[in-house]
Amino acid sequence: MLLAYDSLTGNVRRLARELAGQLGAEAVDVRAQAPAGEYLLLTYTFGTGQVPDTTRTFLDQHGHLLRGVVSSGSYHWGQNFARAADVIAARYGVPVVAKINKGGTAADRVGVLAWLQERSA
Ligand SMILES: Cc1cc2nc3c(=O)[nH]c(=O)nc-3n(C[C@H](O)[C@H](O)[C@H](O)COP(=O)(O)O)c2cc1C
Repeated sequence: MLLAYDSLTGNVRRLARELAGQLGAEAVDVRAQAPAGEYLLLTYTFGTGQVPDTTRTFLDQHGHLLRGVVSSGSYHWGQNFARAADVIAARYGVPVVAKINKGGTAADRVGVLAWLQERSA
């Protein structure tokens, strides 16, 4: 499965590229490319618990190929931590694969990789 990522300051971009490298999968920047097939979306949470506009625009066009969502956020935001994942999951009927603080931990990456490998098996 493809990875599609949206990133403002680089946390999600680094995570997506690292996961793609480990999987031998492609990582598509939602601001630049269309997905060639089903994908896991990795994005971040902006505003106060909001989905970034760039992610929203991408999903308006390619939401039918979305299979799961990961959001980065910051624990600093309390109840709104990584809330974009919940908003997207509810709207598109896909699972929240992970909510990740900043760039995530090794354990976060293992969890997301396991989900991807299960889906590809
Ligand atoms: C203006 C602003 C608003 C943010 N709002 C939230 C928020 O509501 N919830 C949250 O969990 N994180 C929030 N964040 C934190 C980002 O989601 C977090 O830093 C994320 O890792 C950014 O990913 P990126 O480096 O790939 O752009 C906010 C960050 C900024 C700069």
